[in-house]
Amino acid sequence: MKKSKALTAISFVALYLSFYTTTLISSTSVQDDFINCLHENTNVDFPLLKTFFTPERNASMFNEVLESRAQNLRYLTTSMPKPGFIIKPVHESHVQASIICSKKLGIHLCVRSGGHDYEGLSYVSRLETPFVLIDLSKLRKINVDIEDNTAWVQSGATIGELYYRIAQKSKIHGFPAGIISTVGIGGHITGGAYGSLLRKFGLAADNVLDAKIVDANGKLLNRTSMGEDLFWAIRGGGGGSFGIILAWKIKLVPVPETVTVFNIIKTIEEDPGFKILTKWQRTADKLVEELHIRLLFRVTAGNKTVTSNYTGQFLGEKGTLMEIMKKDFPELGLAEEDCIEMSWIDSIVFNAGFPRRSPIEVLLEPKSPFGKVYFKAKSDFAREPIPALGLEGMFKRLVEADAASILLTPYGGMMAKIPESETPFPHRNGTIFKIHYGTSWTSENDKSVNKRMKWIRDMYSYMKPYVSSNPRQAYVNYRDLDLGKNKKNSKVNFIKAQKWGAKYFKNNFNRLVKIKTKVDPENFFRHEQSIPVRPSMLHS
Ligand SMILES: Cc1cc2nc3c(=O)[nH]c(=O)nc-3n(C[C@H](O)[C@H](O)[C@H](O)COP(=O)(O)OP(=O)(O)OC[C@H]3O[C@@H](n4cnc5c(N)ncnc54)[C@H](O)[C@@H]3O)c2cc1C
Ligand SMILES: *[C@@H]1O[C@H](CO)[C@@H](O)[C@H](O)[C@H]1NC(C)=O
Ligand SMILES: *[C@@H]1O[C@H](CO)[C@@H](O)[C@H](O)[C@H]1NC(C)=O
Ligand SMILES: *[C@@H]1O[C@H](CO)[C@@H](O)[C@H](O)[C@H]1NC(C)=O
Ligand SMILES: *[C@@H]1O[C@H](CO)[C@@H](O)[C@H](O)[C@H]1NC(C)=O
Repeated sequence: MKKSKALTAISFVALYLSFYTTTLISSTSVQDDFINCLHENTNVDFPLLKTFFTPERNASMFNEVLESRAQNLRYLTTSMPKPGFIIKPVHESHVQASIICSKKLGIHLCVRSGGHDYEGLSYVSRLETPFVLIDLSKLRKINVDIEDNTAWVQSGATIGELYYRIAQKSKIHGFPAGIISTVGIGGHITGGAYGSLLRKFGLAADNVLDAKIVDANGKLLNRTSMGEDLFWAIRGGGGGSFGIILAWKIKLVPVPETVTVFNIIKTIEEDPGFKILTKWQRTADKLVEELHIRLLFRVTAGNKTVTSNYTGQFLGEKGTLMEIMKKDFPELGLAEEDCIEMSWIDSIVFNAGFPRRSPIEVLLEPKSPFGKVYFKAKSDFAREPIPALGLEGMFKRLVEADAASILLTPYGGMMAKIPESETPFPHRNGTIFKIHYGTSWTSENDKSVNKRMKWIRDMYSYMKPYVSSNPRQAYVNYRDLDLGKNKKNSKVNFIKAQKWGAKYFKNNFNRLVKIKTKVDPENFFRHEQSIPVRPSMLHS
């Protein structure tokens, strides 16, 4: 009796052990193969403790690294697939080795810089198992050359860090990239990248001079060696399709020592007949290029009032701004007391939503003032003002949303001067403003998730008559998988992708497919919305 009990216990332990060791070995052997391969393919040290994170070796550290730069909590829930391991290169050649090894061992690689992808495509693959993550956050050097008006910025740097480094060297240099400081320069520029300087200088992608990229063969290329086709494709064709960008060489732009900012808040009740809003729609894209007035409609939980936040940035002093506003947009009622003069870098802090008089060091923080939330967002482009009837329904829906926002970004100026085919980003002349719809929540168990997802999709259908059509355009940096997605290894991806491809890229989509097919015919760099390959195109 005693003996058989002991035996059972032993065989249980043995069974458990053998199960445990086989599963462990099967995953660690892949890891060992990968690690050996990495060592074989780089001639610089690969310090594993600092660069290689696995759930088996240290689960809490692995989770910390995974979550550190994942910005949409929707893609971190327990039901989302997780990478088998994470590589965090500390040297550029580690990136080359990672590509070579993931190709050799047939393990899919996700690429992450700042982790702001709206659909989490930089750290979650729902197409490929297993997949691993290469996180570029340790490759974040920034070299600003003020004499030359240029900077080399590694992909893992955030735009906040870039702005900060520029400001450390000059008060009269700036760069036209995004608004929220935590956005990663690596993924950001691949989709265009705009901020409050877009009317004067265009997109970040319009101000790129050179780039370092590792291709699907692990080769390191620059502008000369990659050629003008690939150099065109990476400046707006979306991240994760053509290679891993290691660094961008950017052109700095001139900013005056004094810029003026303001925030004017109105409730919808304070704008009867949409007089102010209608004037904004007719004027915001035609104002002087130095003036950018974006408009945020917001409804917060439990409050049935929509507020309109007119946020202005003027490259100049407040006296000049007041004259312009009196002449071109008196309806807003901007008063001198509303205007705050400051340096360009302080306007970056202001625009990013940090509290007034925050030190510029907040731009170096890994967290934005808003923290991390679960969110879903969509985008549109308006080519005509939305009529009052359309606005009424839009606000009615917004009030019903409970916690949502709509952001309007004015175009015109430089945006209208750059031809549609100059870069893959086609939303240029004729666009008067861009629309960003967003809804967010703070708990995974929020019972209203489905309601919120339905809300934003309904809002999007409702807006159809008022925005661009044939195609209904969308911004690739506001990635939206509702527009369509690739299937795993599907030969028909190209056919289906034409639909979402045209929304993001209009006629530039075909050129992107052609370049993709040429530089990555095996479709090594792929995700749910990567540019598909189309072999027949090579001969056309
Ligand atoms: C809070 C917030 C604020 C934002 N504000 C703005 C804004 O003001 N203006 C604006 O234009 N956009 C804005 N965006 C959108 C942002 O530009 C995109 O999400 C952009 O892709 C983020 O780049 P990333 O490196 O942070 O993201 P990631 O998630 O790391 O990457 C995005 C995509 O690019 C790929 N990728 C990442 N790194 C590389 C690389 N080195 N080489 C090749 N591919 C790569 C990824 O695989 C993924 O497909 C904002 C997004 C968020 C969440
Ligand atoms: C680009 O790379 C080529 C080949 O490696 C090299 O000869 C050239 O100097 C590089 N160009 C620049 C501008 O760095
Ligand atoms: C709702 O928001 C408006 C505008 O910000 C504010 O004036 C009002 O007091 C808020 N109402 C409630 C109930 O919080
Ligand atoms: C208006 O926008 C500015 C700039 O983003 C922000 O700092 C401010 O908090 C906003 N105000 C409201 C009431 O939304
Ligand atoms: C922009 O489009 C308008 C018509 O919508 C046209 O009159 C104008 O010439 C265009 N501008 C440029 C720079 O192409």
